[in-house]
Amino acid sequence: MVRSTSTVRSIRYASGVLELLDQRELPARELWLRIDDLEHAARAIRDLVVRGAPAIGLTAAYACVLAARARGNDREGWLRDLDVLAAARPTAINLRGAVEQMRGLAEGAPGEAVETLERAALAMHEADLAANDTMAGSGASLIEPGSTVLTHCNTGALATGGIGTALGVIVRAWNDGRLARVLACETRPWLQGLRLTAWELAHEGVPVEVLVEGAAAAVMQRDGVDWVIVGADRICANGDVANKVGTLMLAVLARRFGARFMVVAPSTTLDPSTPSGDRIEIEQRDGGELWRAAGLAGAPAGVATLNPVFDLTPAELIDCIVTERGVLEPPFGGRIRAAVDEP
Ligand code: MRU
Repeated sequence: MVRSTSTVRSIRYASGVLELLDQRELPARELWLRIDDLEHAARAIRDLVVRGAPAIGLTAAYACVLAARARGNDREGWLRDLDVLAAARPTAINLRGAVEQMRGLAEGAPGEAVETLERAALAMHEADLAANDTMAGSGASLIEPGSTVLTHCNTGALATGGIGTALGVIVRAWNDGRLARVLACETRPWLQGLRLTAWELAHEGVPVEVLVEGAAAAVMQRDGVDWVIVGADRICANGDVANKVGTLMLAVLARRFGARFMVVAPSTTLDPSTPSGDRIEIEQRDGGELWRAAGLAGAPAGVATLNPVFDLTPAELIDCIVTERGVLEPPFGGRIRAAVDEP
């Protein structure tokens, strides 16, 4: 099993057994689910048992190993499995990236490549963990002592293979004594901020104040925020960022109220083959999530619901993109591609 630098983890894999911490149940209880096959893994990704771009990429990599073992010599069946997995969620590039990497590794019968695939999945997990540690250090060093930071969604150990992306920076900055206040948006409708980020920061011993995202403008105006720090699900060639819905609103507010805007993401989230954000498919989820977040069974008759779960922040609103391959600054064009191509 891959070691972890965080007290929290969301994925365990050892000796062919994959387990996921069921994030739908947090913070009420810590329930680990054993994932027996690829179909079960795809469902877990769709249903948000596991979420966060790097974590779903790693889950997919391990699921490819399970499927290779189950399929044996049935290469066609295995390739169909991979397509099902890649389609589980459309926006985060890490999912597709992990599946494509695994597809490239099994040239013949997938059953014969199980050990190769397993080694590759474990290496991806190790690489994500190491990238998190590097990003935490370089992101934290940009933050002046005494700063107030605001984050969105959950980008910590629950969303990655290590300490996290944006949340990793925040935990490191707190431990380095740089932060006066940590603010986290509750993140409607699934409440990743309220349920997951708050729980994770409590585990890490970092005091946090959770607010509804509708309060972000007033808090920036009255109290002041120095940095908005978020993760990403995909970063295009021009630096446009797809991330949890609400990120765009925070970026606009940051510009208006003088906060800087930091995106933290590993190179596996960079997608230089997509020129700009308008080419990204934004996942639309069941509107029932909005009503359930309010403790209601569903919408009253005649009421429609919109539930896009990601948005696109244009590159012009972003001050820096922290990757394990360096801190990228505007103009981002060319720098995203260069970071991916770096050996
Ligand atoms: O719908 P989710 O919870 O999977 O969305 C997660 C996010 O938007 C995160 O900010 C992103 O994946 C980066 S996680 C390190």
